[in-house]
Amino acid sequence: MRHETIEKNVNLMMILIVVAISIGGLIEIVPLMLSSDATEPDEGIAPYSALRLAGRDVYVREGCYNCHSQMIRPFRSETERYGPYTTAGETVYDRPFQFGSKRTGPDLARVGGRYSDDWQRLHLMDPRALVPESNMPAYPWLAEAQVDPELVTAKLRVLRLLGDPYTDEQVASAASEVEGRTELDALIAYLQELGINRRARR
Ligand code: HEC
Repeated sequence: MRHETIEKNVNLMMILIVVAISIGGLIEIVPLMLSSDATEPDEGIAPYSALRLAGRDVYVREGCYNCHSQMIRPFRSETERYGPYTTAGETVYDRPFQFGSKRTGPDLARVGGRYSDDWQRLHLMDPRALVPESNMPAYPWLAEAQVDPELVTAKLRVLRLLGDPYTDEQVASAASEVEGRTELDALIAYLQELGINRRARR
């Protein structure tokens, strides 16, 4: 009888369906939001420096995530190849995170320090000069484009508003840190530190 009332009342049924479906979602999502493992940075994880932040935005703008993940899964085949698996606590300053879902090229979560700055520079200018069979595009325009110091300062301010612990000095020196640097410099700075603070826990 009561069931009939529900079946004949579309609005009531919709509300009850949403309630029923939410239970599963809430059970998965709420504990994660409350757990410090997922919301607090791991040891050694700090907000991006001004130059790296600019580089990260180049990475996003150029769509590197379409071919590269930054998410090492906890499987032997992955940790043997790339290094320690990715944790939530190491990505708390990633807005948005760069987990990615496609690996045309290798995962980049631990690529920092794997090659020299010169290797990275040449590879981004002309991937086939170093890896003849590569299908990665070349990004020569990054060497000509300057990082905008004012924009970077504004980004740091906004991130601080959102809760990233930038100090007044970091915000004040952001402009001079990126002054005269190209987008290629910034991207390389970003890549060269990816995952280096996770190496030790392998
Ligand atoms: C069309 C797919 C594609 C895109 C887009 C792409 N890559 Fe790649 N990338 C590859 C492939 C394939 C390789 C492996 C061959 C090579 O080293 O060139 C690679 C290799 C790399 C490597 C060396 C990784 C290692 O462990 O050897 C780095 C670093 C890299 N890419 C950075 C970038 C960056 C930064 C961008 C964006 C500016 C980018 N890639 C965009 C396909 C891509």
